This record gives sequence, C-alpha cells and structure tokens, in this order.
Amino acid sequence: MLGFQPPAIGEEEIAAVAETLRSGWLTTGPRAAELERRFAELVEAEHVLAVASGTAALHLALLAVGVEPGDEVITSPITWPATANVIVHAGAKPVFADVHDSDLNIDPEHVARLVTERTKAIMPVDLAGQPADLDPLLAHGIPVIEDAAHAAESYYRGRKVGSIAAATCFSLYATKNIAAGEGGLISTNDAAIAAAIENLRLMRRGDGSLYDIVVPGYKANLSDVLASIALVQLDKLEAHGEIRRRQFAAYDEGVADLDGIEPLARDPRDTHAYHLYVVRIDAEAAGGTRDEYQRLLAEENIATSIHFLPVHRLTAYRELFPDQPPLPVADKAGEEVLSLPLSPAHSDEDIADAVAALRRVHASLTR
Ligand SMILES: Cc1ncc(COP(=O)(O)O)c(C=O)c1O
Repeated sequence: MLGFQPPAIGEEEIAAVAETLRSGWLTTGPRAAELERRFAELVEAEHVLAVASGTAALHLALLAVGVEPGDEVITSPITWPATANVIVHAGAKPVFADVHDSDLNIDPEHVARLVTERTKAIMPVDLAGQPADLDPLLAHGIPVIEDAAHAAESYYRGRKVGSIAAATCFSLYATKNIAAGEGGLISTNDAAIAAAIENLRLMRRGDGSLYDIVVPGYKANLSDVLASIALVQLDKLEAHGEIRRRQFAAYDEGVADLDGIEPLARDPRDTHAYHLYVVRIDAEAAGGTRDEYQRLLAEENIATSIHFLPVHRLTAYRELFPDQPPLPVADKAGEEVLSLPLSPAHSDEDIADAVAALRRVHASLTR
C-alpha cells in the first residue's frame, strides 16, 4: 500500500531525540525555547509559543482574546473538527460560514452577513496550504485566529502567514509539513495575547518552593523531546517543500485531462504550502462518486484521505446546534473532496504510481 502521508523522519531526528534524552531535560526547556525563536524568524512574528498540539494552540488563542460563554465565533465548516471543538470548549457557539467553491476556504461575504455584537473572533482555515482571504476578515476589527495547521510556509499577498492575524495557530502533528508527532505553535505580534497564552499553557513553580498562579491554567506545554524533532524538521523545511512542490506538479499534469477531476484552486497572488493535494470528483463527469474512487484506489494499493467532511454535518454538531443554516457549497464539497498521497517520504516513482492508478480508475469508470 502506498501510504497517504507517511512522516519523513531520518537519522537526524533520531539523533536529536537521543541527544535530548541524554541531556536529562525531558519536559519544556531549552529546545522548546529554541524552536520558538527559530519559528518566530520563519513566520516573521514577535512572539511564538510552543504548545502540546494544534488543537491546544487554537483553544488557548481563543481564550487569550477573551472568548467566553455566550460569545459567537465564526469559522469554516471545511476543517478538522478541532477548529470548531475549541470554540465549544471555550463555552462559545460556533457559527459556520460557507466556503468559496474554488479553494474551499471561508467566504468573507458570508462571514460579513453572520457578524453580530456577540461575535468575538473569526477563525479562518488555510485549507491544504492555501491562505484564506484574510484582508476582508481583518476589516471587521474582530480578532482573527487563523488556523494555519496546513500553512507553515504560506504567504498571503506577500505577507507571511503567522505575522498577519491576531494569533496564528500551527500544528506539528505527524502528517504536517513540520512533523514532531504532536505539538503546536502560536505566533502573534500582540504582547498581551502572548502573555495570556504563557499563563494558560503551563503552571510553573518558578524559582524557590513558594509559588502562585494568576489563572487556573492548563497543561498544554510542548516537551523538549518533541521540540528537538521539530527543530530538525525546520532544517529540512525547504528541501521537503521542494519535494512536495514537485509532487503537486506531477499531479497537476496527471489530472489535467481527466474529466470531472479538478484540484482545488491555488491563488497565484499567494504562496501555497503544498500540504495536501485535494481533488474534487464530480460524480457525473468522472463516472463515479468520491467514495467509489477512494475504494477503487485502495484496491490499487493507493491510500487516500478526505479533507474534510463538513463539521456541521457531524453528529455532535447536528445535536448541539441543530439550527444550522444551509451551507450548499460546503455540503457539496464534502461529498467530492479526495486527498491523494503526498509526502517528502514518497519518491517521484511513488507519485507516478498514484497518478497511473488514478488514471486507470478514471478510464475504467468513464469508458
Ligand atoms: C485544519 C486543522 N486544524 C487543526 C488541526 C489540529 O491540530 P492537532 O492535530 O495538532 O491538534 C488539524 C490537524 O490535525 C488540522 O488539519
């Protein structure tokens, strides 16, 4: 089976972990601090805070901008459920806006119609590595918490993702462009947001045996063991990105003449992070549904994935928030999206195999 998104981990990461274990410092320490410093340089932000996951990053960022029970937060339904879950964790109500048909990122015009006096934050998602259209969201003057789990290397209109929103949240999950297994990073240029997250993510004893806390904080810090993996992955970011860019080009060429199979749009004004290669499968033109394609590709030993099923259609959200307005673009996309194998751990031949299998499946369904 050709794996969907196997991690690209080498001897350097293994050596870094061994060195960290030998250092005697297992929890948050000098390597996490070094990761924050280096990531701040990468994303051109004043403050970066390392946390336990991308989910924790989003949760603490919402709390840091003051989201409370009774508030509303507008977000995209085409995301991993974590983006919406943290709104619920903060006691607020997720309000889903529909997405653009082209790139499946949140539609700012729909957002504008959903803003009320209870809206305390807007959470766009940079799906697959394509930045959301941030300027019209920022224009509301409401804190934007950007879910950049897919967008470590992205630029929006020439500005680095991570330096634009009130807080930008990245993930170090096993499949991500910087993969530590688990972990998250929050970047912000707002000292007050950074200070709030610092207090929330970990209770420290500080110096001496007497201690005090100013907020009842969480345990959401990043261990140095994981930070040491992320540091090596940062060294490899450019080389890995170049491999994924080549894989995108191979897929673009391979699907260009396939009726009913269309990759998500990439805006030439922006820099894409090439995190996921997502195609939409129009069942009528492609001769089969997304689910049929996924099954037939699995029979060809090609693993695929789905990014994403609309969050408002999942059981928890249907039960908690049954009065969802229709989101026709997201609903249709949820039935059509399919993500193809992509990873720096894959060779050019692996991707050629995936393209050939997709073309065989397409030929068998459209003949
Ligand atoms: C769009 C998106 N947001 C948030 C997350 C949550 O990140 P984590 O798994 O690090 O908690 C993920 C991925 O896992 C994601 O894909």
